[in-house]
Amino acid sequence: MGKTDIGNRKDVSLLVHRFYEKVRKDPEIGDFFNSTIMDWPGHMEKLIDFWETNLLFVQKYKGNPIKVHAELDKKVGHKIENYHFGIWLRHWMETLDAHFEGPNAEKAKQRARNISVRMFMAIFEERRPLANN
Ligand code: HEM
Repeated sequence: MGKTDIGNRKDVSLLVHRFYEKVRKDPEIGDFFNSTIMDWPGHMEKLIDFWETNLLFVQKYKGNPIKVHAELDKKVGHKIENYHFGIWLRHWMETLDAHFEGPNAEKAKQRARNISVRMFMAIFEERRPLANN
């Protein structure tokens, strides 16, 4: 069966659910999610909104994920490293490739790469503020 592109909220929901099955089980990054997220249905809704807004231009997600992850890093004792972002991204790419093919799937990969770099820089700056700030 040929794969199709991400075209609607149902597709985004499948992508996000499959992805979270992987990350929650991951021995190296699973704990970051399992130990901090208490409202799972709420979290899933938010992430589906986020990707629907990013890929399908449906204005739903309003938030600041960069700031949320800098706070998360503080909460988990400054333990989130570039390495963990690498693992996160690998699960994202694998989930996309397993289920979808097309411009939106490629966009989802590129967005995640770009955002993760900005997230890690925000985490880094939070740990080590610039002297003249
Ligand atoms: C090591 C990598 C990552 C880890 C461990 C991680 C973990 C988490 C956790 C635990 C939360 C819930 C925070 C809370 O509610 O207090 C969260 C929220 C979120 N994450 Fe990540 N994340 C990672 C990377 C990413 C990346 C690369 C993206 C996007 C491309 C992303 C998108 C989001 C979004 C949109 C939220 C919701 C933010 C909000 O509350 O508005 N995450 N993440």
